[in-house]
Amino acid sequence: MSDSQDVSRRDFVKTASAVSAAVAAVAPALEGAPAIHKVKAANEQVQFGFVGTGGRGQYLLRHMRDADIGRCVAVCDIWQPNLDKAAEVIGSNPRKYKDYRELIADKDVDAVFVATPLFAHFPVTRDVLLAGKHVFCEKSLVFKPEEVHALRALANERPKQVLQVGLQRRYSRFYQTARQMIEKGLIGDVTHVQAQWHRNGGWTMRKQEDPSRERIANWRLFREYSGGLTAELASHQIDVADWMFGAHPEFVVGVGGLDFINDGRDVYDNIQLIFSYPKGRKLMYSSISTNRHLPFFGSTRTEFGERIMGTKATIEITVGTDDEPTLGLWYLEPPKPEVTKAGEKKEAAATAMATLASTGKGTKGFPILLERDQITDHDSFLAKEMKYARRWLYSKGVMVPEEDRNPVDVSLEAFLNCVKTGARPLADLEIGLQDSAAVILGNLAMDEGRRVYFSELDKMGRA
Ligand SMILES: NC(=O)c1ccc[n+]([C@@H]2O[C@H](COP(=O)([O-])OP(=O)(O)OC[C@H]3O[C@@H](n4cnc5c(N)ncnc54)[C@H](O)[C@@H]3O)[C@@H](O)[C@H]2O)c1
Repeated sequence: MSDSQDVSRRDFVKTASAVSAAVAAVAPALEGAPAIHKVKAANEQVQFGFVGTGGRGQYLLRHMRDADIGRCVAVCDIWQPNLDKAAEVIGSNPRKYKDYRELIADKDVDAVFVATPLFAHFPVTRDVLLAGKHVFCEKSLVFKPEEVHALRALANERPKQVLQVGLQRRYSRFYQTARQMIEKGLIGDVTHVQAQWHRNGGWTMRKQEDPSRERIANWRLFREYSGGLTAELASHQIDVADWMFGAHPEFVVGVGGLDFINDGRDVYDNIQLIFSYPKGRKLMYSSISTNRHLPFFGSTRTEFGERIMGTKATIEITVGTDDEPTLGLWYLEPPKPEVTKAGEKKEAAATAMATLASTGKGTKGFPILLERDQITDHDSFLAKEMKYARRWLYSKGVMVPEEDRNPVDVSLEAFLNCVKTGARPLADLEIGLQDSAAVILGNLAMDEGRRVYFSELDKMGRA
């Protein structure tokens, strides 16, 4: 870091006040993480089942092992080793099924989690709803245009049944704060979002002892079962763009290639998509399998993140992993010079924030602050000093603000809470369907090499 970009503690305290004022404006409107229901009596717990207990299913089960609000009473997988592993992971002695219809029919099951490959999301989710139960389905919610229409019709007929989608960024305090910063005008007009999920090596074709399992075990790599990189990775980030723009795309163009990995897959190994939103706003999306560099956060992270660009500021954000927390920085645009009546440009008055942010060479990112780091009038002298000190350490990169809880945990608990209270999930049916529509049409744009309009979906998949 150059000296000119460095900040003394006194400067930082001055600047922090300005940032605090800006961010404090956001705080009251923050969507809080759902309150944790401490349900102790067994009969008050939501009894749930799990269909599809491979990598993701077992990950989610591990994250639900200590949940007070629900209890896993049944698991289902067509492959015995994953079924046994799931029962072991959750440790609640669940009943084991190989046919998902039997799990759905189990009278002890109130709610079902679906973590099957994409091609099976719709039939399982549909059958759960038809059985009058609640459903959490992994992203991308559905696979085909006809499933978008059918699930919308079915779920809308059953408003009392909860349907939540596994788009966990919606449950992150950082992403919620970013959205609130946009609503409060701190970022200006958000005109572009840039998002990437780059890997080096990416998915590999896993050899199976039983050759008849070759395709299903590697389902992500085959169009018969999967929407490829668009469904598996981009879906999360398209949803972020929809959320931050507060809109859905009008059309999409893209180039996809199967160029670098020749292992028998038939999905693209690199995709570039541009989604165009109302008023010319764009999401520029990239997913490649040959390099994992991430040019955000001073390259301290790899692979995935989103950059939200407005006329007043930029937000860089990533959801992180179990090992690396969610991270968000914002960068101010330099103040615009005022134009006098005579048409002369006058340098804008420098504010503490602007002085810090504009070095003439680049800008310094401020961490996005969560409520606990925001300074309020009610704070004691000592509490304020502690907050300034913590924020100064953030500015030095010694500490980063962290979410109290993994957004995945928050999303799982939120679903069970919705089942108990009847509340609508943050990642609900329409969010999931719009996201799936973007995945389906993004793939179509790349396959057909043309501009695909979102209005085309209305006519697709109708009998
Ligand atoms: N939200 C996220 O961040 C996230 C992360 C990873 C995966 N996912 C999603 O989770 C889903 C599963 O992915 P995964 O990585 O666990 O795949 P996986 O291949 O590891 O597991 C899928 C499991 O489903 C089972 N299965 C297939 N058809 C079935 C059926 N009809 N009935 C019951 N079980 C069936 C398979 O045997 C396998 O055990 C995908 O939709 C994926 O996109 C979401």
